Amino acid sequence: MKFLKLMAFATVLFLVGCKTTQSTPVASTNKIDAKQAQGGMWIPSLLEGVNETEMQNLGMKMTAKDIYDVNNSSLKDAIVHFNGGCTAEVISSQGLLLTNHHCGYGQIQSHSSVEHDYLQDGFWAMNKSEELKNPGMFVTFINRIDDVTAQVLEGVLESMDLKVQQSLIDKNIAKVTKHATKEAWQEANVKSFYKGNQYILFVTEKYTDIRLVGAPPTSIGKFGSDTDNWMWPRHTGDFSMFRIYADKNNRPADYAVDNVPYTPKHFLPVSLDGVAENDFTLVFGFPGRTNEYLPAVAIDQIVNTLNPVKIDIRANALKIVDGFMRSDKSIKIKYASKYAGIANYWKKWIGENQGIEKSNAIAQKVTLETEFSKRVAKKDLAGYSSLLSDFETLYAEVEEVALARDYWVEVVYRNVELLNASFKLYQLENAYTRGGEAGFNKARTATLNRFKGFYKNYSPKVDKPVFARLVQMYKEGIPTAFLNDVLKNGNVAAMADDIYANSALVSLAKVEALLNGTPEEVIAKLNADAGYKVGKALSSDFYNVINPKFNEVNIKIAAVQKKYMKALRELFPNKRFFPDANSTLRVTYGQVKGYDPVDGVSYGNTTYLGGVMEKFVPGDYEFDVPKKLQELYKAKDFGQYADNGKMPVCFIGTNHTTGGNSGSPAIDAHGNLIGLNFDRVWEGTMSDLNYDADICRNIMVDVRYILFIVDKFAGATHLIDEMKLVHPKK
Ligand code: ARG
Ligand code: GLU
Repeated sequence: MKFLKLMAFATVLFLVGCKTTQSTPVASTNKIDAKQAQGGMWIPSLLEGVNETEMQNLGMKMTAKDIYDVNNSSLKDAIVHFNGGCTAEVISSQGLLLTNHHCGYGQIQSHSSVEHDYLQDGFWAMNKSEELKNPGMFVTFINRIDDVTAQVLEGVLESMDLKVQQSLIDKNIAKVTKHATKEAWQEANVKSFYKGNQYILFVTEKYTDIRLVGAPPTSIGKFGSDTDNWMWPRHTGDFSMFRIYADKNNRPADYAVDNVPYTPKHFLPVSLDGVAENDFTLVFGFPGRTNEYLPAVAIDQIVNTLNPVKIDIRANALKIVDGFMRSDKSIKIKYASKYAGIANYWKKWIGENQGIEKSNAIAQKVTLETEFSKRVAKKDLAGYSSLLSDFETLYAEVEEVALARDYWVEVVYRNVELLNASFKLYQLENAYTRGGEAGFNKARTATLNRFKGFYKNYSPKVDKPVFARLVQMYKEGIPTAFLNDVLKNGNVAAMADDIYANSALVSLAKVEALLNGTPEEVIAKLNADAGYKVGKALSSDFYNVINPKFNEVNIKIAAVQKKYMKALRELFPNKRFFPDANSTLRVTYGQVKGYDPVDGVSYGNTTYLGGVMEKFVPGDYEFDVPKKLQELYKAKDFGQYADNGKMPVCFIGTNHTTGGNSGSPAIDAHGNLIGLNFDRVWEGTMSDLNYDADICRNIMVDVRYILFIVDKFAGATHLIDEMKLVHPKK
């Protein structure tokens, strides 16, 4: 949804003007405070200038070129996008990768069973032949980053209709991508920044032979689980290790026995010297999505209308699933990853809402908007004068359908698994309508493949009460204009009884039988299935009513948002605007720092192993501690990793991060690894909408704790030997 409403020529001029720096230059750069003024997720190729100066003022000893360089190896060559979601970094000359435990969780789970429970017990390959392959996994390196705004906006005129503009932009992007200079094994793609005001090309390299090397037990890697998630003080050793394999020429290749460990252009040395308050830190990774430039009316809608509904639906689903997981070990393994994913954002939204309220974020936005209007009026910028009232109108228009969409996504798509399966089958039926027999057969194979993974972790016993509760909430809560007759006239409890007794969608064997036959036969069987009937009714509402309506309004919102973004940058020349996160490689930086969460309470910046022992509850679901770790603690057997006799575990800093930054390296002033980003503090989770340097902190595992666990706990000393350990402070 990127649109252009400006004179192309003027836009190009404007963008070329600010191309060398992503931050509108501050009036006098030498006046930057030694303490950080704001957050930001900056584009690595555009750090020279204001960012570089600011980083150096904060203590960095590197140059912008040490971080990103096209011609020489630089820090960026050690960073990968991990399976499209998290971040990971190369920490040895043999392609050893470090990421979070929760990022490798799905892989660790996939190799686990009740007999070999690597989630519970941990896993360590004691040599390369024991490393476990992970079909379907990939990591992506960024080879090059180029500004291609002028090419993408070529010929695009403000006078053009929005759809025409977009299709021209899409065509230009296809052209830029196709003609990008790159090697045969590389890929190219273009992403929009600043809401469509800037376009950037990424040349990437994707490796697909990624093997699991090691993971601590969940009682370390996920210590504190959901109770401690998004919280400080924290004591989680949230890490796991993988290795990239390549062909004989070090190029990407699918799994093969004779593939070899990847030789990186750069890998991160590991610092043994730890951190202290105010030390410079840089976090390098792939933040997924932020929304820092929304108008007050949009934040109000998120916080007061949408978040409460999503929180409520998830709370209900989680309570039911949790009950089963606590009493049945096989259900615990099956649902562990799904549960963690649902619980994660449930808790995040609660923190986000509290933070927005406490920091008066909406009132702050209103103040900014008042000032914005004044400046627009003063400069007589007619083109910008209706932006804020356009937002008011459009957010009012979108409210009901946005709510309906969230109900659908949370109930049908995310939480009631049988409805999710029926959604996949609905797509299969559509494949027949669109592509005939050939289309159907292709889609059937893909669907059956996905179902194999799906049903491996499915229990109708768990799903049925979730259906009964959530579909009732859907029926009662979705705006009536979007309520399907099937639900309006039906009794949900009776529906659940019928479906979970009679539908084929409750097991893989039954679904496979159902999908056997000619397309016509399969579709006839599907449409006679009790579960599919309800699922189809709800999915077709989404496809035919909810989503089209939602998109229709959102196209208009995006056009206003784009213009608003441009206007903000023009009217507040002293402010520095970073582009919202969009799953591209970014640099964020700050300092190690504690914070004051509430009046009278101050949090320090580091936690220690002693704190793990304080939280220890023997046999507990979330706070058990492995015996070996207890012994190491008692014996103070910390090797070279202790800090004045204590074993550091986690620390916090002012780096502006978001989802996707999990697994990102925390790097010191010289470019060495000091920690592994994995979370944010609860009081600051609103930073996706409104960063506030006073209370927003990212949470990192201290790299010395990782080394200690690998070395002393797991005895995987061969991995330590592979790394380059350094003492930058000595
Ligand atoms: N909150 C962190 C993130 O957003 C960690 C999530 C995984 N941990 C958990 N207990 N669910 O991804
Ligand atoms: N745990 C998050 C992730 O998986 C990072 C924490 C955050 O959202 O800042 O990316």
